[in-house]
Amino acid sequence: MWNTRHLLTIDSFSRSGLETILQCASILEPFSGRGNKLDICKGEILAEIFFEPSTRTEKSFQVAMHVLGGDVIIHKDAGSSRDKGENKADTIKTIEQYSDILAIRDHETGAIERYAGIVNVPVINAGDGSNEHPTQALIDMYTIWKRFNTLDSLKVAFVGSLKHYRAAHSLIKIMSKFSNNTVFGISPPGLELPDNFRINGYEDITIDMRNLNDKLAEIKPDVLYVGRVPKEYMQTNDINQCRYEINKKTLQCLPGHSIIMHPLPRVDELHPEIDSHPNVMHFMQVRHGLQTRMAVLALMLGHEKKISEISA
Ligand code: NCD
Repeated sequence: MWNTRHLLTIDSFSRSGLETILQCASILEPFSGRGNKLDICKGEILAEIFFEPSTRTEKSFQVAMHVLGGDVIIHKDAGSSRDKGENKADTIKTIEQYSDILAIRDHETGAIERYAGIVNVPVINAGDGSNEHPTQALIDMYTIWKRFNTLDSLKVAFVGSLKHYRAAHSLIKIMSKFSNNTVFGISPPGLELPDNFRINGYEDITIDMRNLNDKLAEIKPDVLYVGRVPKEYMQTNDINQCRYEINKKTLQCLPGHSIIMHPLPRVDELHPEIDSHPNVMHFMQVRHGLQTRMAVLALMLGHEKKISEISA
């Protein structure tokens, strides 16, 4: 499947590993609605350890494990012995004793890899600082694939702070595993993609963000990927330069088949006036979070055969 027991970075996936996720997610999709309960992960426990805020990642992992027939425990620092001064490593080692798999989020780049080194169960990176967010990118990959029926020969434009945007970092890596994709990073100066995430076919488009719509009309992306301005990782000057809004006017500048994606949460960069447009995918991504995370959990816990049995 992928070459480590943990899911820390998209680097550890091959194209065929990603295709396995797509297949498993689509097999599981009909069973992911309300009222379904499978027994693929019966008796197994996922622990979610979040040292940073989360809505979708936390809830979708929780519901995914529930639908797979497993159980979930959730750790947040407030109200835990972390308030008494317990360190993160001891908290993680403690929760490991009750769990079969851990999903961990931390504000520090590389932290999840370090935690994976101190436990004996598989670990999922649920976001490490401004580095990677591999499961969000797998969801985004599934969303793009469902819409275009391919992940090759696509033009994908990312908008915002390419420097800090962890979901984009992981999705850019995914696009590099498929063929003939062109990836643009549209940002104000100083917020370009760090060198370690650059792939063949990547191009910086450094602009004054007030000219965003004109630039989009020129490059005609198949996928426009927008994100929140991650202020918690940014300097004030950079935040001020990185203002933009995707709205009805933006839609008019894009080809009719283009989709707009946003992993949420949004603040003011995606106007609700286009929420119900069929090419605006943010809540579809939320929905696909379930199927994709069900596939990730079932595969990491060794249940590939059980997934193929439900499709038989
Ligand atoms: C993102 C994250 O936490 O990286 N959200 C998510 O997981 N869906 C996006 C963000 O915080 O801006």
